[in-house]
Amino acid sequence: MKNYTNLILAGLVIVLAAALVGVLVFVKNQPPQERATQPLIEIAQMEPDSSQWGVNFPNQYDSFLKTKTNNVDTTYAGSSQFSWLERDPRQVILFAGYPFSKDYNDDRGHANALEDVRATKRLNLDDTNPKRTPGTCYSCKSSDNPGLWTELGMEAYDKMSFNEMTPNINNAIGCSNCHDSETMRLVVTNPALKEALERQGKDWETFTRQEMRTVVCANCHVEYYFKGDGKYLTFPWDKGTKVEEMIEYYEEYGFKDWEYPDAGTPMLKAQHPEYEFFTADSTHFKAGVSCSDCHMPYVRDGAAKYSSHDVHSPLLNPEAACGQCHTDTEYVVRRVNTIQEQVATTKIATEDALVDAINAIKAAVAAGNADPALLDEARKLHREAQFMWDYISAENSTGFHNPEYALKVLADATNLARQAQMLAAQSVNDFDLLEINTYYQTPAP
Ligand code: HEC
Ligand code: HEC
Ligand code: HEC
Ligand code: HEC
Repeated sequence: MKNYTNLILAGLVIVLAAALVGVLVFVKNQPPQERATQPLIEIAQMEPDSSQWGVNFPNQYDSFLKTKTNNVDTTYAGSSQFSWLERDPRQVILFAGYPFSKDYNDDRGHANALEDVRATKRLNLDDTNPKRTPGTCYSCKSSDNPGLWTELGMEAYDKMSFNEMTPNINNAIGCSNCHDSETMRLVVTNPALKEALERQGKDWETFTRQEMRTVVCANCHVEYYFKGDGKYLTFPWDKGTKVEEMIEYYEEYGFKDWEYPDAGTPMLKAQHPEYEFFTADSTHFKAGVSCSDCHMPYVRDGAAKYSSHDVHSPLLNPEAACGQCHTDTEYVVRRVNTIQEQVATTKIATEDALVDAINAIKAAVAAGNADPALLDEARKLHREAQFMWDYISAENSTGFHNPEYALKVLADATNLARQAQMLAAQSVNDFDLLEINTYYQTPAP
């Protein structure tokens, strides 16, 4: 009898222990829980006021609010609005004739987006001027947009001028730019993204959760242009998202952002192609890492575990941002420093080549006797080289999101810029124009 009792007891202990382990594993693998399991208030579809959502999700809201006051800088980025034109005066030359030569500041946190777009000196608020700033510029700055796009349609939205749109826009970026209020799932809210994906044969509704943790950023962190007189917001992705594929697209469509003064080159301005650059087969992208893994890591507040909505440079919190996957965070941060230093230095060499090309083309035009075919070829190379440089320069990670690709694109751009300079010299048979200069002795960051 006694032996049986022992056996039964031992069996019970094993079963209970196994059940306990099972429960613990189950609990540990649950998705992060909210403080409130029941929503406290009902949030309307596309509610633009983030403080409403904040009633139900105080952790995400409080961390999101921090993006308003962040001001810490890193070597090449961070959250202050330092001026790129002051740091690197070559850019004043590269953007001559275009508003970016007047005002070009580094980006800062999401909650400032509205204030910053209204303050930039790049705006042209004269509605009688054909170069007036379109309302389309608000597309990535406000949580009012999803509602407005649904109500007006994007075509009518984009036709309005910046001035006309202003009274409709009251909130900076917020919850409705990324979430469906009923289910809280991540969503594509920007019609231009939905349409660009559709033209590539993709339907975002079928994407996995991990894919959405990157695609949701592509609502805004992408290259785009304003198509036609209606200024219709369009992503130039029909031939692919690599830099040469976008150039091919623009070439076929015959698009230019502006004409370079005294050189006559039809120029393209790259915006902020974080999504395209990161997804161009970077090591992290191929390993399945998402933008949110590094920029919105999970953090804890007592028992609550949630995604930090305080989006900023991961170099300010590498333990949370990189430590989930890398044990030696000091080492990976040093790698970032090395990569960025190499990319920044290479980028300056490209800029010097571009300024030489611009000066040679201008001189060839001024000479008045240039071979038109050679001069046009020089302009074409100038256009391509500058867009390639800008694809890396306007991308906000100083190469880190895809280091090998950054160096390749910059090498190609330098080569094309030097070829443009040679062709311009050849077009007027003036070989003084082949001189190679370094424009500013102090190395710009
Ligand atoms: C593997 C981690 C990682 C991933 C994945 C990642 N980033 Fe970054 N990101 C960084 C680092 C590191 C920097 C450089 C920050 C610096 O220089 O201070 C950066 C910089 C940035 C910046 C500029 C930050 C600033 O302070 O101005 C933006 C914007 C950005 N990333 C957006 C994105 C987007 C959008 C994606 C996805 C398409 C993405 N990142 C994917 C690590 C990552
Ligand atoms: C820039 C896009 C973006 C904005 C704006 C945004 N979120 Fe999120 N949110 C995310 C991402 C990415 C996740 C992670 C989702 C996942 O892993 O599936 C997330 C997750 C969440 C979750 C799920 C739990 C968690 O923490 O992972 C809640 C709740 C949430 N956000 C609430 C909010 C609220 C409230 C706001 C407005 C104050 C907001 N979000 C604004 C991108 C955003
Ligand atoms: C609705 C448009 C929008 C979406 C969606 C969006 N961003 Fe941004 N993001 C911006 C704008 C605009 C700025 C610059 C704001 C400014 O300078 O005032 C910015 C700035 C940033 C910065 C720089 C912050 C700093 O302190 O310098 C980072 C990093 C960033 N975004 C990452 C992301 C990531 C990662 C995602 C996806 C999870 C994302 N963003 C989704 C529009 C967006
Ligand atoms: C979600 C997981 C994840 C996160 C978060 C993450 N990494 Fe990585 N990282 C990887 C993987 C996977 C690789 C590829 C490893 C390999 O192939 O050996 C990698 C590779 C790297 C490499 C080497 C790349 C190369 O091509 O040599 C560096 C440097 C790096 N990560 C830096 C960072 C930094 C800095 C952060 C934080 C800002 C970060 N990583 C965040 C998963 C991650």
